[in-house]
Amino acid sequence: MTNTNRPIGIFDSGIGGVSVLKEMIQLMPEENYIYYGDSANAPYGTKTAEEIRRLSLACMHFLLNHDVKAVVIACNTATSASAEMLRLQYPDIPIIGIEPALKPAVLWKEHDRIAVLATPMTLKQEKFQKLLHTYETTSDIYCIPCPGLMEFVERGELNGPRLTAFLKELLTPYLHKIDAIVLGCTHYPFVAPVISEIAGPDIKIFQGSYGTAKELKRRLLEAGLKKEDTTKGTVQIYNSNQSPETIALCDRLIHT
Ligand code: DGL
Repeated sequence: MTNTNRPIGIFDSGIGGVSVLKEMIQLMPEENYIYYGDSANAPYGTKTAEEIRRLSLACMHFLLNHDVKAVVIACNTATSASAEMLRLQYPDIPIIGIEPALKPAVLWKEHDRIAVLATPMTLKQEKFQKLLHTYETTSDIYCIPCPGLMEFVERGELNGPRLTAFLKELLTPYLHKIDAIVLGCTHYPFVAPVISEIAGPDIKIFQGSYGTAKELKRRLLEAGLKKEDTTKGTVQIYNSNQSPETIALCDRLIHT
C-alpha cells in the first residue's frame, strides 16, 4: 500500500467517535478509515486520568498495528487526559484531538451564556480549565458534567421517555439563562435532536466534529499524507467488546 493510501485511525471510548468519523468521511470520502471503539472499557469519563492514559495507549497500539498514517482521538475525555502523552510517545505520526467547541460558541455573539455538557473528567482536566479561563471573562459559562449520558448512546437508546427525562432533569435548571449549548463529548451529537427539543429553537447547539475533521485534513496536507487518488475509500469498524450489535449500531449511526 502506498504511503498516502494507508488508513486514518480513529478511536473513542465507545461508539461516540462515529460522530467525528461521519464528518471526516463527508469532508474526505476518498480516505480509508479504521475506527476502534473501546466500549468494553467505557465509560472513560468517570475513570482516573491514569486509567484513561493506559486505555488510550492500548487503543493507539491497536490502530498502529493496522498501519495507520494518522490518528484522531475522537473523544474529548481521552484527548484531555492522554493527547500530550501520546504525542510525546509517537512524535512521528500526526495525532489530532478534539476539545469542546467553546471558542465558536463564545465568538457566535457578544456576552453569550453557554452551557458546556461533557464528562466529569473532561471538565476537570487542565486542558479544559485553561480554555475556560480564556473565555470566562467574555461569556457566562456553565459546566454541566453528564455522567450516565453516554450510556444511552452506547445502548442505542437515542430517544424515548427515559432519555427525555434524564436530559430534562440535567438541563432545566439552566434553560432560562443560556443562549447556547456546547456538546463536549462525541457521544452527545447522537442525542442532539432530543436536547434541541428540550432546549427550544432559541438555544444554539455547538459541537467540535467538523473542526476536528478540518484540522485532520490540514495536518494530512502539511505532512504530505493526503490520499491522492479520488476513488471512494473504505471504512472498517472494530470494537473491544466484539459484539456484532455494537458494530451494527455504528454502521447505522454512520448512515443516519
Ligand atoms: N466520547 C467521550 C468524549 O468525547 C466520552 C464518553 C465516556 O465517558 O467514555 O468525551
